[in-house]
Amino acid sequence: MRVFSGIQPTGAMHIGNYLGAIKQWVAMQTTGSVYCVVDLHALTLETEPALRREQTLDAFASLLAAGLDPSVGPVFLQSRVPYHAQMNWLLECVTSFGELGRMTQFKEKAERQVGHRVGLFTYPVLMAGDILLYETNQVPVGDDQRQHIELAREIAIRFNNRYGDTFVVPEAVLPAVGARIMDLQEPTRKMSKSVSSPLGTVYMFDGPADVEKKIMKAVTDTDGEVRYDPDAKPGLSNLLEIFSALSFESPVDIAARYQRYGDLKRDVADALNAELAPLSRRYRELRSEEGEIERVIDEGTATAAAIAAPVYHRAAHAMGLL
Ligand code: TYM
Repeated sequence: MRVFSGIQPTGAMHIGNYLGAIKQWVAMQTTGSVYCVVDLHALTLETEPALRREQTLDAFASLLAAGLDPSVGPVFLQSRVPYHAQMNWLLECVTSFGELGRMTQFKEKAERQVGHRVGLFTYPVLMAGDILLYETNQVPVGDDQRQHIELAREIAIRFNNRYGDTFVVPEAVLPAVGARIMDLQEPTRKMSKSVSSPLGTVYMFDGPADVEKKIMKAVTDTDGEVRYDPDAKPGLSNLLEIFSALSFESPVDIAARYQRYGDLKRDVADALNAELAPLSRRYRELRSEEGEIERVIDEGTATAAAIAAPVYHRAAHAMGLL
């Protein structure tokens, strides 16, 4: 059983990344799992090169602090394994304009970016390549990546039909709760790294006072009833989901225990801080040991490349490359 997933090194990770993806990665980590920091994907966002390098190290430190163990399965850097860019090209030649044009994330990001880069459009193909290179069965992700995984499945099936059985067809694995954590100030929009919302975003390594401030100020509603109802009460339901993802109790059961929004908020803040404080400590330690992070990257990359190489060659051969 192969588990594969990736995360962009585009700035501090938030609790959406953590509860939607990283926490699952840790729970699903076995000798068959492969996790990747996708720095090639992050090139679609313009950033100072020096900052980009820092953000890549931050991303590794974040993943290790969250509990990934590189001695169990590789944690590696996408750009160091050349098969990702190569596979991307093969797959671009079996993907249509129409299906990329339908990608919701492309449409949203294209609206925000001026001077559209081609990479933003072909981004999901590079992602399909990431997944297919590792003969992946399961891809733990948050809800916003569901459509991209569906595309990877379609590309794999199409390739297999056209060129013979080459790829394993992957499936997305979403957490039961926390697959779509919403912005605390604008709870109808997902919490996001790319939209600035200082009070609406809780970062994994925010200090306890910041976590508490943001949760206590979270936008709710005025009807005063603690009830899980994402459509009618998106702000309150988001808090219940955050709590549920941390406590493994259902949002409905949690809601039944509270009469007042303030009491619920205080307990959500406490639960978040209890979970995040040890991670923050490990993060600060790791971030001061760059040599250790470089070693994890080198080792992970070697292991990952050894898995990806035969799959890439099989695909290239199937298409008729000599
Ligand atoms: P990225 O870097 O935007 O996000 C990393 C993971 O965090 C999840 N996530 C969320 N989950 C719940 N609530 C939120 N508000 C929230 N925001 C983000 C994402 O769903 C994701 O699982 N394209 C991918 C990276 C990628 C990838 C791959 C993933 C590249 N290649 C191959 C899986 C397999 C992305 O941009 O994730």
